[in-house]
Amino acid sequence: MRNLDLPVATHDTSLEAKGAGWLTMANVNKSFSATAVLKGISLAVRKGEFLCLLGPSGCGKTTLLRILAGLERQDTGLIEMAGTNIGILPPAKRNYGIVFQSYALFPNMTVEENVAYALRMPRAHRTRRVGELLDMVGLCGKEGHYPAQLSGGQQQRVALARALATQPSLLLLDEPLSALDAKVREHLRHELRTLQRKLGITTIMVTHDQDEALGMADRIAVMAQGRIEQLGTPEQIYHQPQTAFVADFVGRANWLPIDIDDHGSVRLGDLHFDAKLPTRYTTGTAFCRPEHVRVEASWRAAEGMTMAIVEGVEFHGGVRRGVLSLCADRDIKVQADVSPNEAGYDRLVIGNRVPIFLAHDKLRFFTGIAK
Ligand SMILES: Nc1ncnc2c1ncn2[C@@H]1O[C@H](COP(=O)(O)OP(=O)(O)OP(=O)(O)O)[C@@H](O)[C@H]1O
Ligand SMILES: [Mg+2]
Repeated sequence: MRNLDLPVATHDTSLEAKGAGWLTMANVNKSFSATAVLKGISLAVRKGEFLCLLGPSGCGKTTLLRILAGLERQDTGLIEMAGTNIGILPPAKRNYGIVFQSYALFPNMTVEENVAYALRMPRAHRTRRVGELLDMVGLCGKEGHYPAQLSGGQQQRVALARALATQPSLLLLDEPLSALDAKVREHLRHELRTLQRKLGITTIMVTHDQDEALGMADRIAVMAQGRIEQLGTPEQIYHQPQTAFVADFVGRANWLPIDIDDHGSVRLGDLHFDAKLPTRYTTGTAFCRPEHVRVEASWRAAEGMTMAIVEGVEFHGGVRRGVLSLCADRDIKVQADVSPNEAGYDRLVIGNRVPIFLAHDKLRFFTGIAK
């Protein structure tokens, strides 16, 4: 995709530096019949930001996007864009472009007519503008085609061109890539992000694909059951999940049972970790990513070192994924992703006893049942 002469948005750096929201939602609630679907959503989106709403099916992502678009009305709560209370405006007054999961093009209109749909300008200008937009999304020369004559990926490009036609200041995307096959999806991800950066257009994309969110977003809002569980950069969401839900939903995870002693320290199998967990809990769970479990070539005495038996090995392209059980407690199973340039790669063979290392700073402890 290329960007021709669409204006490149200027960032309000003073606002951004303060982290202030350009688009803000404050305590937005929405129920359908008696069912609460959004429960006190507050969110501040920065100008020019690419924000992903990530969460499982039914958690309220589309509803939130539709409320932003004015296609649905919140029961309570305030929505402001650049200081204007847009939460009370009809869709046509809100200045956004939207792309849905299904292509939603008008089937009886050509590509040109679809893209030009919202453009109110003299015919000659319109033709030129459509040409620019199609060039931008890499569809030059397809003006006369009908949607049915295009591939899924091409149709979504048309939908994107149509959404951007009126130079909106906000782009809303509801799973725009999910109906496409994996290769096209990956390609379009990259193009979409490059274009968004170039235009500097504030974008909110709904997805339930964590790879998509981690790979594309400036920040991710992880949603569950109508609430935002955590808002953060992809790195923060992946490495410092604040709740067990986020840790489990994003990425692969080991959940290992722990006991908590009277000092708030942790016992995991035969391992001990100094910690300051609340002592009103006696048990909990340790979380760690499979890539942070180190399979060592040889034993050394250190906090976090223990012996394990390799019970299963799968080949996953870049890594070997081992399932190991701790010798101290065979019921504790640990998944380890080991890459070929790590010492333990060759030791990952079913039946082997191997030293494994769980680094304290790679573990997160979640407390469980209270005393
Ligand atoms: N118009 C409606 N009337 C009644 N219930 C609705 C309506 N729209 C959404 N819901 C309900 O609200 C909940 C949230 O729906 P929503 O479409 O926002 O979820 P989502 O996170 O986008 O899910 P998905 O990933 O499956 O698209 C669901 O339980 C859904 O059934
Ligand atoms: Mg949805």
